[in-house]
Amino acid sequence: MNLDGSAQDPEKREYSSVCVGREDYIKKSERMTAVVHDREVVIFYHKGEYHAMDIRCYHSGGPLHLGDIEDFDGRPCIVCPWHKYKITLATGEGLYQSINPKDPSAKPKWCSKGVKQRIHTVTVDNGNIYVTLSSEPFKCDSDFYATGDFKVIKSSS
Ligand code: FES
Repeated sequence: MNLDGSAQDPEKREYSSVCVGREDYIKKSERMTAVVHDREVVIFYHKGEYHAMDIRCYHSGGPLHLGDIEDFDGRPCIVCPWHKYKITLATGEGLYQSINPKDPSAKPKWCSKGVKQRIHTVTVDNGNIYVTLSSEPFKCDSDFYATGDFKVIKSSS
């Protein structure tokens, strides 16, 4: 129950944006980590654009802030350092290569597993970087490592 007496619906939680650092710092380092409302996120600055996502890989909790960024099918992806899963920076989709078993000589095609990693919003104001957590109500695979028992950062409350 909230202070105003209304019941809080966890599916519809709205998060305030949180200042995580300065623009000139991330432009030099090209990545940074932050804790936003008790959720660990990584922020990338890549080719003039900012991207934020849950820091733990949806597959098995790998540290995405230590991965390399590479293009696959023309889409910039973070490559998880643990098992090399590819996650698009812009949408959080897991990419994989598929082959046609009936035509093994055909070139493998890049396909999407759908959104697997939760993406958050980055805004810049007066040289400060702000992150607003996603409040999209869908269940995202990376939530498993960002919440509950697997969360690295424990709530201060
Ligand atoms: Fe990231 Fe396995 S933990 S690919």
